Amino acid sequence: MADRHWIDWHRNYEDPSSSISRRLEVVSRELAHAVGRSPKGLIKVLSICAGDARDIATACGDHARASDVAATVVELDTELASAAVHRLAAAGLRAQVLCADAGLTATYLPEAPYDVVLICGVFGNINSEDVRTTVSALACLVRTGGTVIWTRHRRPPDLTPSIRQWFRDEGFTELGFFPIPESSGSVGVAVLRRRHALAKPTSRIFTFVGDGADAHR
Ligand SMILES: C[S@@+](CC[C@H](N)C(=O)[O-])C[C@H]1O[C@@H](n2cnc3c(N)ncnc32)[C@H](O)[C@@H]1O
Repeated sequence: MADRHWIDWHRNYEDPSSSISRRLEVVSRELAHAVGRSPKGLIKVLSICAGDARDIATACGDHARASDVAATVVELDTELASAAVHRLAAAGLRAQVLCADAGLTATYLPEAPYDVVLICGVFGNINSEDVRTTVSALACLVRTGGTVIWTRHRRPPDLTPSIRQWFRDEGFTELGFFPIPESSGSVGVAVLRRRHALAKPTSRIFTFVGDGADAHR
């Protein structure tokens, strides 16, 4: 994988009609809703493999509850992590950006539970077993009543029916599943009925498979 792969991937956001920009609209809309339905007080938002965190900046920057948001953003690439720092600061949000391997839960588990967890652009880049392990870990990371927003392409073999079932198996209720028109992308939104407070996720929950192209062969 070329080092600049994920930086180049983010360039697709420059075209507002690209499938990734249209996916961003849905993620941002659902994040704004999740923030809006959070209980009074601090709203802890975690983004796993956050890229430049534009979803949080877009959805929360001018949200009525922006001052309640405390974002934790985990991104391995130094350039993207630095872009996230600037974007979140420009949006006026309280945030800590961790330039770290998000596959290791130890990085962000101590601050769980979170009100909202974003895991976007991840499930298409890890193998199915890791997706299953990660869905299980999400039930430890989010608070009871909290929201997970996830994405995944629907190219064959379409894993989204299994992912949706795995969320149900872990005690989530699906709030929505949104295929992105004229693209293989999709966004899922799930709310946790009861947190797995005592369960501890395995320390490594996923490993990216290169640029994702070989993750599901
Ligand atoms: C497909 S992009 C998604 C970025 C962002 N979530 C979005 O939807 O715009 C995947 C991101 O995961 C990051 N990444 C890859 N492996 C990672 C790891 N082990 N820990 C943290 N970030 C990782 C990449 O650098 C890249 O920014």
